[in-house]
Amino acid sequence: MTPLIVANWKMNPTTLVEAKRLFNSVSRGLKGIKNAEVIICPPFVYLSQFQTKKTKLYLGAQNAFWKEKGAYTGEVSPSMLKDLGCQYAILGHSERRRYFSETDEVINKKIEAVISAKLKPILCIGETGVEQKRELTQEILKSQIEKGLKKITKKEVKKIIIAYEPIWAIGTGRFCSPEEGKKANAFIRKVISQIHSQKTAKNTIILYGGSVNSQNAASYIFEANFQGLLVGGASLDPQEFVKIIKNVRRP
Ligand code: PGA
Repeated sequence: MTPLIVANWKMNPTTLVEAKRLFNSVSRGLKGIKNAEVIICPPFVYLSQFQTKKTKLYLGAQNAFWKEKGAYTGEVSPSMLKDLGCQYAILGHSERRRYFSETDEVINKKIEAVISAKLKPILCIGETGVEQKRELTQEILKSQIEKGLKKITKKEVKKIIIAYEPIWAIGTGRFCSPEEGKKANAFIRKVISQIHSQKTAKNTIILYGGSVNSQNAASYIFEANFQGLLVGGASLDPQEFVKIIKNVRRP
């Protein structure tokens, strides 16, 4: 399948001028490139500024609230994101879990809301360094998947993309080996098959994220069998980001 490459800009860049420059450079860099689906997830405030119609890019949000509208100061609803042309929403990123105390229960509500608004959720899961050392990776992944996907129907699960992001690898340069990634990938699929069916598990798109760069990107696709990547830091450098995309295309 065509690899799915998601750029998570996080809280960057700090001005609209820079954001437009970055978006346009990526868009130009992708001219003539086939066989890659690229999703840009900028901060909310820049979303309305990006036209994806004439580019090969799709838009995604980095978060979404679980209600459609109402008295929820400071929140942004999935319908609002849809209206701005978003097709995807990253949910449960480890930075949201850590700095904004998002629990699996909250993330589960957000997944439901995002699917109802006809956006595709990208559910992030992953263990901390301490959990990895204690060999708790599988336990953590299982719990995050089971709680995150609670009451999500088989039909809805088909719309969900999962991103395996070991927290110890995010923004650290200490990336996950393809062997470790392959193991986690297979385990995630096993958990989904236990909740739903083998067929559903087989068809689920699973991404890898955590210190991805143009050097290691291909190993996650071709060795660890991920269907795409969630790229943070390297997505802020248009040359590096386009190189990542070029390196993971299937011939
Ligand atoms: P990183 O971030 O590529 O900078 O490690 C990935 C992520 O947080 O999604």
